[in-house]
Amino acid sequence: MRIRILKDGPVLIETSGKFKVKVGEKEEIREGKVVALCRCGRSNDKPFCDGSHARAGFRAEGVEIEVE
Ligand code: FES
Repeated sequence: MRIRILKDGPVLIETSGKFKVKVGEKEEIREGKVVALCRCGRSNDKPFCDGSHARAGFRAEGVEIEVE
């Protein structure tokens, strides 16, 4: 698994194509090869990134993590 924390942006997590999201008691199955999680706190679709970081001027370093 590879996790990329984008410079000035979200956390990207590669998936096998399907993933389960549980927020409180609500649970849903979503599809996608990459999940973008908000780390700026401005998204209106938390925990997912909706692009609000760009309008908010969020700034932070990027990081890549390889999990074996
Ligand atoms: S990181 Fe994109 S909206 Fe927060």
